[in-house]
Amino acid sequence: MANVQHDLIVIGAGPGGYIAAIRAAQLGLNAACIDENPELGGTCLRVGCIPSKALLESSQRYHAAKHDLAAHGVQTGEVSFDLSAMMKRKEKIVGSLTRGVASLFKKYGVTRYTGRGRLDGPGTVRVEGPDAVTLNAKHIVLAAGSVPAPLPGVEVDGDRIGGSTEALSWPEVPGRLVVIGAGSIGMELGCVWARLGARVTVLEYLDRILPGMDGEISREAQKIFKKQGIEFQLGTKVTGARANGAQCTVDIAGAEPIVCHRVLLCVGRRANTQGLGLESVRIELDKTGRIPVDEKWATSAAGVYAIGDLVRGPMLAHKAEEEGAACVERIVTGYGHVNYDAIPGVVYTHPEAASVGKTEEELAGAGVPYKIGKAIYFSNGRAKALGDTEGFVKILTHKDTDRILGVHILGAQAGDLIAEAAAAINFGASAEDLAHTSHAHPSLAEIVKEAALA
Ligand code: NAI
Repeated sequence: MANVQHDLIVIGAGPGGYIAAIRAAQLGLNAACIDENPELGGTCLRVGCIPSKALLESSQRYHAAKHDLAAHGVQTGEVSFDLSAMMKRKEKIVGSLTRGVASLFKKYGVTRYTGRGRLDGPGTVRVEGPDAVTLNAKHIVLAAGSVPAPLPGVEVDGDRIGGSTEALSWPEVPGRLVVIGAGSIGMELGCVWARLGARVTVLEYLDRILPGMDGEISREAQKIFKKQGIEFQLGTKVTGARANGAQCTVDIAGAEPIVCHRVLLCVGRRANTQGLGLESVRIELDKTGRIPVDEKWATSAAGVYAIGDLVRGPMLAHKAEEEGAACVERIVTGYGHVNYDAIPGVVYTHPEAASVGKTEEELAGAGVPYKIGKAIYFSNGRAKALGDTEGFVKILTHKDTDRILGVHILGAQAGDLIAEAAAAINFGASAEDLAHTSHAHPSLAEIVKEAALA
């Protein structure tokens, strides 16, 4: 069969890849997108961001009904939950969103291929699988995402010992759950199962949780999670884990092993570069296993670009989306830009932790003179009405110019409040600009204004 010609081919239909393919089609290119999974949307949509948020919401509602409603004068009687109904709701949400991506492909005329995409020399991609075919294009965008990083000695069996994908679908609440790694996945999914009744122990190698977040946010968040019943062992090196029937044993350097019912391994992710055929165009990986790219997301191979988790920077869906759109705009129009200082990061626990720009540790480490403005949820009227008074907003500005360099929020709706901070940083705003912006009363957003005033 003759090769099929496209203008631009994207390998991977996650948030980076599907946005790149749609943007290319919108800009008039004959675009194609390859994914081995028949459901589009990648890790984020199928087994990541979206299903975890669905379970976080369900488990939080159960927890609130059980523990918080009485304070509002709402009487419930005995509160219980149906785990399979929670799972079905989660799957329904995922299904409607993956179908939504498919209908966007149809609407904009993106050609879809189901199978594994592999580079096969300059300008050529082979699709292996249901839609097996050889394709040619002038531009190829690699957007294959990431996969969970393994940990030596931990025998992942995909059942008792697994990663985030498995932990989104357990058929019952584990009596005791050990979480290895106190990053975003560990804290979010640890919270889900703790709310549903599991005894959760988080083992973390570093002396803090949520690496990458501002240190003060991490410390306060840990105190709050501890009050919620999560146990932490920091400075703990896990050396192995194995399942034996319905039980697992987790080995720790210099301490007694822990016996539990399930283990969630979440010690980071690594770029999904295997089987991409990088050698066929002589692309070499950097020391961290990612694909080196320039400011146009161009790799060392002519016509081949890479975005999202495959390349440097935080492994976040919205960072990949920005890169997907900007990379294609660069190819077609010559313009396209991502402001890496204005990419927010959110951990969807309760309360949420959100961050954009530099942390205090980063500013101190770089010798940048800075000022801190803080405001707490406790004195905010809306927070009191919500019954969510834990947390604070911390704004870091340049000491001389007042320009906002970082904003860090721990508290209810932090993930939404951070959008204003990202916009402020993107526009080069000062704290004074934010402080002089009218914020609705009563709203949680006023805490951001108060921190700016401070
Ligand atoms: P992570 O990199 O956020 O955290 C992994 C943690 O594991 C680190 O604190 C590390 O010190 C610890 N660790 C490493 N080796 C260890 C050992 N031997 N024993 C104990 N602890 C050990 O990785 P995570 O949580 O797996 O998330 C993966 C990626 O997915 C991240 O890039 C994250 O940004 C992204 N993600 C983002 C979410 C969000 O934006 N809400 C939610 C979930 C994931």
